[in-house]
Amino acid sequence: MSNRKLRSEAWFARQDKMGFYYRSWLKNRGFPQDQFEGRPVIGICNTWSELTPCNSHFRTIAEHVRWGVLDAGGFPLEFPVLSLGETMMRPTAMLFRNLASMDVEEAIRANPLDGVVLLMGCDKTTPSLLMGAASVDIPTIGVSGGPMLRGIHCGTPIGSGTNTISMSEQLRSGQITLDEFHEAEADMHRSHGHCMTMGTASTMACMVEALGVGLPGNAAIPAVDARRNLIAREAGRRIVEMVRQDIVLSTILTRDAFENAIRVNAGIGGSTNAVVHLIAIARRVGIKLDLDDWDRLGRDLSCLVNLMPSGKYLMEDFFEAGGLPVVIRELAEQGLLHRDAMTANGHTLWENNATAQCWKRDVIHAYDSPFKEDAGIAVLRGNLAPDGAIIKPSAASPHLLTHTGPAVVFESIEDLHSRINDDALDIDENSVMVLKYCGPKGYPGMAEVGNMPLPPKLLKCGITDVVRISDARMSGTAYGTVVLHTAPEAAAGGPLALVQNGDLITLDVPARKLHLAVDDAELARRRAAWQPPASHGERGYVKLYVDHVLQANDGVDFDFLVGRSGASVPRDNH
Ligand code: FES
Repeated sequence: MSNRKLRSEAWFARQDKMGFYYRSWLKNRGFPQDQFEGRPVIGICNTWSELTPCNSHFRTIAEHVRWGVLDAGGFPLEFPVLSLGETMMRPTAMLFRNLASMDVEEAIRANPLDGVVLLMGCDKTTPSLLMGAASVDIPTIGVSGGPMLRGIHCGTPIGSGTNTISMSEQLRSGQITLDEFHEAEADMHRSHGHCMTMGTASTMACMVEALGVGLPGNAAIPAVDARRNLIAREAGRRIVEMVRQDIVLSTILTRDAFENAIRVNAGIGGSTNAVVHLIAIARRVGIKLDLDDWDRLGRDLSCLVNLMPSGKYLMEDFFEAGGLPVVIRELAEQGLLHRDAMTANGHTLWENNATAQCWKRDVIHAYDSPFKEDAGIAVLRGNLAPDGAIIKPSAASPHLLTHTGPAVVFESIEDLHSRINDDALDIDENSVMVLKYCGPKGYPGMAEVGNMPLPPKLLKCGITDVVRISDARMSGTAYGTVVLHTAPEAAAGGPLALVQNGDLITLDVPARKLHLAVDDAELARRRAAWQPPASHGERGYVKLYVDHVLQANDGVDFDFLVGRSGASVPRDNH
């Protein structure tokens, strides 16, 4: 044990009135003084909630972390934070990511914690916990909840979200019955865990591992596999050592670590949501990650992982094939990763993954025979997206990656819903669907509606993709030639607000271009006539959100949350 002063000593080592308070209220729970005095106090930050089904097993994981902390001589204290359930929360869980990050930040800072273990699973629980912890910057380790087992329907694997979308389209076009649709609901999600496609939850779990905040192998172990509990216990043991070694989060969350994460995201065919989340997390520790980093580092990279929505397998297959360590090894061997990036277990990224073996090459391809080439998230610019937009080429239709077509404009999500099933809608396979006012301020919360459903009249003709453009996000489980995160958003007066039906739009992914073929004079005329939409934020948290949220290219954080305040709390509470 080092002689370094513990942060918690500012609470428990006090020999005065305040020390009485702090110690007495732990003793009333049956903890003898020698259990917390002089021991690293470890917070177990738990996002368990019945409203977050993906995190429903987190009480069990927390117990394994607790035993690990005790094994190593620490003192564990579990605490709840706002849990964001992707399936339940309206209008979108993303609206509350920043709120949850504030909860996490202040809960850690305000309490006598020397280190913290973050339990993360469903999409927004991972970035919100990392953002909050980053702004405090004490020793931190991440434990992901793990993906569900693969879905099985009529003998065929089905994946979260990806097959929800495809089966929804099949139902709308009359290819399956409502009974079949209902049956698939139970078949798809049949165990604890988060979505088992390479959606946002799986992607962010991979980011936790690639950043070095999680232990090697953290991302892919299924939620119900006993090894998930083992890694939780190891994390509990390790965080105590991290406190003793004073390894704070910012020593792991370096620029090198974020650059590694961007490249790993390309290698796994990861979610577009990782863009806003990584930018937001990086800026909490003072690293100005931006869209140019995503394009510079992800450009030309290949996708190695054959998982839905880009491919056909699921996270259980990924785990059985060797998981993220194989991807990291493949990329690092090509010189694409910073091998010396330090990780939570005290070893470098390369030391952790140098001997990783692949057991199923159809699931994780070698770098010299990739699953898909040029698969990194592409950053588009042009007069329709002066501050950028993104597309995930690996999930798009190759024939649409260079395309010019007339706009079919939906002025709001309600407009889309009211007209999309109308056979009179003037649309064909060359059209470019444009959806406005679904960005951070506009929805509000930048909902996952960018992968607009296709009109039944196209589906019935066998057309399964058209170019779609919006200022929204899209589920990491979704697919299609979908341009997202257009910035500035329409509600902030971005050019997207000015698009009219019939305008020609050119998408050129190889050239990274998104162009609206309307001359500047006409755009100026439309801008002069433009009326901003009515605000959704009249009071409370939504007003705070709308007033302070940053645009997609800046990570959709609040302007006043960028950066960190550190861990010190100078004043007593009584
Ligand atoms: Fe929780 Fe997909 S709904 S990860």
